[in-house]
Amino acid sequence: PAARRERIAALDWEAFEADVAACTACGLCRSRNRVVPGVGDRRAEWLFVGEGPGAEEDAKGEPFVGQAGKLLDSMLAALGMRRDANVYIANVVKCRPPNNREPMKDEVDACLPYLLRQLAALRPRVIVCLGKVALNNLLGTSHSMGRIRGQLLSFNGIPLVPTYHPAFILHKKDKEEISKAKWEVWEDMQKVLALIPGKRP
Ligand code: URA
Ligand code: SF4
Repeated sequence: PAARRERIAALDWEAFEADVAACTACGLCRSRNRVVPGVGDRRAEWLFVGEGPGAEEDAKGEPFVGQAGKLLDSMLAALGMRRDANVYIANVVKCRPPNNREPMKDEVDACLPYLLRQLAALRPRVIVCLGKVALNNLLGTSHSMGRIRGQLLSFNGIPLVPTYHPAFILHKKDKEEISKAKWEVWEDMQKVLALIPGKRP
């Protein structure tokens, strides 16, 4: 595993994508249709990290292209941003967990070298963790998003802003709860904007 981590850490973007496409390091390789390495601007200042691909992502090979992705895109649009400009979007696991279950620890452990490679290549000015699975797997914590959001955290010296996963908002039934959660995500994004004054696409 250490040799694999080092090998992955040395890959350039092209080799990285080929490596992910051929990866069989965890059981998720058996049920995936396509790997979903990530999408966006390789010079991005903002890195969004989600949990793992769903059905649409698995079919298309691109993160956040289903319902949750539409909500993420509209949030980005409201901020005057786009998924392909100054933003990069990735997940903690690059292959879809069957039936959209949470990725298991051994799967996250096997896949994390790829996210770390992306982080080292991008050197984003901020990491936005979408949901507690991304947050807790990156930090090795067990925070509840409702309690931790609003705080400014950090990962390897990079400011980390935790916020709700768009799917968490979509699963809510109560209209007031939905607007409250959307408002809270908006507040979290204002925090990101305050961290990164100036350059917007
Ligand atoms: N949910 C995620 O966490 N990631 C995706 O890419 C899509 C949905
Ligand atoms: Fe490899 Fe990650 Fe896919 Fe597992 S989830 S097979 S570690 S790319």
